[in-house]
Amino acid sequence: MSIYGISVTVKSMSAQSMSSIKKNVPSAWYPTMDSFIAKGKNAEIWDKNNKRYLDFVGGYAVLNTGHLNPRVVRRVKKQLNDYSHSCFAFAPHENAVELCDQINKRYPINQKTKTFLVNSGAEAVENAIKIARYATGREKIIAFKGGFHGRTYLAMGLTGKEKPYKVGFGPFPKFITHIDFPYDYRGISDDKVIKQLQNLISKKIDPNDIAAIVVEIQLGEGGYIPASNGFLKKLREITKKHNILLIFDEVQTGFGRTGEMFGATKVNVEPDMVTLAKGIGGGFPLAAVVGKSKIMDSVHDAGIGSTFGASPISCAAALGVLDVFDKDNLLQKVHKQELIMEKSLETMKENFEFIGDVRGYGIMKGVEIVENKENKTASKELATKIISNSKKNGLLLVNCGKEGNVIRFMGPLTAPLNQVREAMEMFNNALEKI
Ligand SMILES: Cc1ncc(COP(=O)(O)O)c(C=O)c1O
Repeated sequence: MSIYGISVTVKSMSAQSMSSIKKNVPSAWYPTMDSFIAKGKNAEIWDKNNKRYLDFVGGYAVLNTGHLNPRVVRRVKKQLNDYSHSCFAFAPHENAVELCDQINKRYPINQKTKTFLVNSGAEAVENAIKIARYATGREKIIAFKGGFHGRTYLAMGLTGKEKPYKVGFGPFPKFITHIDFPYDYRGISDDKVIKQLQNLISKKIDPNDIAAIVVEIQLGEGGYIPASNGFLKKLREITKKHNILLIFDEVQTGFGRTGEMFGATKVNVEPDMVTLAKGIGGGFPLAAVVGKSKIMDSVHDAGIGSTFGASPISCAAALGVLDVFDKDNLLQKVHKQELIMEKSLETMKENFEFIGDVRGYGIMKGVEIVENKENKTASKELATKIISNSKKNGLLLVNCGKEGNVIRFMGPLTAPLNQVREAMEMFNNALEKI
């Protein structure tokens, strides 16, 4: 075939093999799955060999409304009739403003808020910190061990999980300090962490130098560990007392996964700023920084921005996602799914000696795999075997946690209940084969 007179060889997709990945992409980016994805529909995907899977990875907690949700597709198609891109800072478009308005109305901060749209979770986190430092005129940031905030330098600096995210990439900004994240199962209580923080701000860091504390309501990459509402309330008290901004990184907890639209409602604590990404775009790249208006408006003209942020297509998709929540009573469905998962996983915990803990808000369920309940020794080896058995059964899962021994469920909120039950059976069968 010739294009502009240059002869090119066109390989059909079917000719692509897994070895072509090795030839063409850096080894650090090799996919986990060993076959190409061919088709997706809500909670199901099919690979090129026509094998069907229940997708409880969901593009890493992105597909809250499933693959190709008709309400999302409808909005996107409609947008594609008109135009595909406009840099919002130059030519505004209605989808973005409607979406910001919707988020401002829905996010549980009891003051006027404003929303800034970008492309990815890391970009949202970067911008939240830029704005927080600008608004407070302070330099330092507190984050948590085990926290994950993205792959760009500042987001990586905030991330509190060394392997594989930070090793070899340092040095990182010196203005970030990490403290423990409460982890009941491993003996790190809320009180212990609050004392650590109080000690830090009374002896080591002047609280008047701290711009913000950034925290996930439930650790994602760090092991699906939920923060209690008591702990987050205490953080709120301390931050308020010292005029430190409290930033919730809701990139993973946002848009329904905790059983509420936002994690902040679930824990009943109001932050000053929030980052959102993943599920908000219904499978299209989109992220947001939401914050109190006086904070968001503190930055000088054009001090924040993004070429592709607020893509009209992604914003259309996000409005489609909100349609699903509003018109299909999605949160009620999530609650039913949560009950099924909780009951099944708790029974499995009783039946299998190597399940140490089952935890998590809403349908963000994590299953911690150990050698046995007595010694609680983390077992990545067993977790990997269970994930592999599950895949053979047709259920896609991935692990997380400092030791890689926590199996997490990130399926769509829209999954039909019979498929949630099917996923639980496949998982149980994978455990039985250990
Ligand atoms: C809590 C949290 N923050 C930030 C990020 C980074 O998001 P992205 O990969 O879109 O940059 C992630 C991604 O997993 C996340 O879970």
